[in-house]
Amino acid sequence: MFESELTRVLNIRYPIFQAPMAGGPTTPDLIAAVSNAGGLGNLGAGYLTAQQIRTAIQEIRQQTDQPYGVNLFVPEQPTESDETIAQMTNHLNFYRQKLGIPQSPMIQKSSESFEEQVQVLLEERVPVFSFTMGIPSQDVIQAMKKRGTFVIGTATTVDEAIRLEAAGVEAIVAQGSEAGGHRGTFLKDIPQSLVGTMALVPQIVDHVSIPVIAAGGIMDGRGLIASVALGASAVQMGTAFLASPESGAHEAYKQKLLTAHEDSTDITQAYSGKAARGVLTTFMTDMQCYTGKIPAYPIQNAMTRDIRQAAAKANNPEYMSLWAGQGLRLVNDHSAAAIVQETIAHANDLIQRLAIAGIVDDE
Ligand SMILES: Cc1cc2nc3c(=O)[nH]c(=O)nc-3n(C[C@H](O)[C@H](O)[C@H](O)COP(=O)(O)O)c2cc1C
Repeated sequence: MFESELTRVLNIRYPIFQAPMAGGPTTPDLIAAVSNAGGLGNLGAGYLTAQQIRTAIQEIRQQTDQPYGVNLFVPEQPTESDETIAQMTNHLNFYRQKLGIPQSPMIQKSSESFEEQVQVLLEERVPVFSFTMGIPSQDVIQAMKKRGTFVIGTATTVDEAIRLEAAGVEAIVAQGSEAGGHRGTFLKDIPQSLVGTMALVPQIVDHVSIPVIAAGGIMDGRGLIASVALGASAVQMGTAFLASPESGAHEAYKQKLLTAHEDSTDITQAYSGKAARGVLTTFMTDMQCYTGKIPAYPIQNAMTRDIRQAAAKANNPEYMSLWAGQGLRLVNDHSAAAIVQETIAHANDLIQRLAIAGIVDDE
């Protein structure tokens, strides 16, 4: 029923991608469970070292012989004035004091080496490589394709999708503004690029000739059917899998997700220096007075790491990043395989009901 050119080329049963979610949620257990259930599990490897990626790939392979994907962040090299960094260090010391951790720590490294990460993906011949926050060089895209890796980019506007297609990607994730986590935006400013999934997907579909994967606020069979109706070949669901037992999200984070609502999130740069959607926390509210003075990604991300880690240790979600989309009332703690199966069953049921109503022909 949901077979498409994309499911055939990827050799997956269902057009359901479990979103790559960097920072711990996408454990090998989660990825393998989704891939074994007929979807496509994806590792969010943006923050992992080359060796950690290799280990994770080996663990995924031990648990499934089905296809899976690995996702990276396209790197940026921002420069930030010493003054901005010093001011932020001072401000963050307030939270360090609250959490009882050392003041003004040395920041070791802002981000992992993209080149080394790419090298592992090439050596391991991963079935799918996806990326966000930009476009990698032609060398990287062509090297992946030469190894038989299927390449997917992320767009938040039609112009970004057109650029990605021209760069040679084979499918595009259309990330609507409902989506949890970091915005993949790379051309214009964030406010202009916050386009809802319902508006974004059909406009991207109309302007590219490669498959489009809808992302943002898709939580069940209704979201899947709606996305297919908009022209998408598959959906990418992140928030829906976050509270599953296989997800590596912190217990306090999972509990927040299970009780949060559609109006519980906001978009913030406070944790990482890059816009991302998450459940509103005390830290996000406090940091609003620093808007415009937050060091760019990945500097701010490195600067808040010790605070986020200490908060996680102390089970204090108010200083952790709780990335999540707007579909929060639809989150449940079912197993990853159940979420895939329920989404498909729900979608099939909807199609039958629409057929009975004479709206679609289910033949
Ligand atoms: C916790 C979390 C982490 C995320 N990390 C990544 C990531 O590493 N790479 C990426 O391309 N997208 C990432 N995303 C965005 C997802 O790919 C996807 O766009 C989003 O989850 C879809 O919206 P939804 O959360 O409403 O399903 C993340 C999303 C969440 C919720």
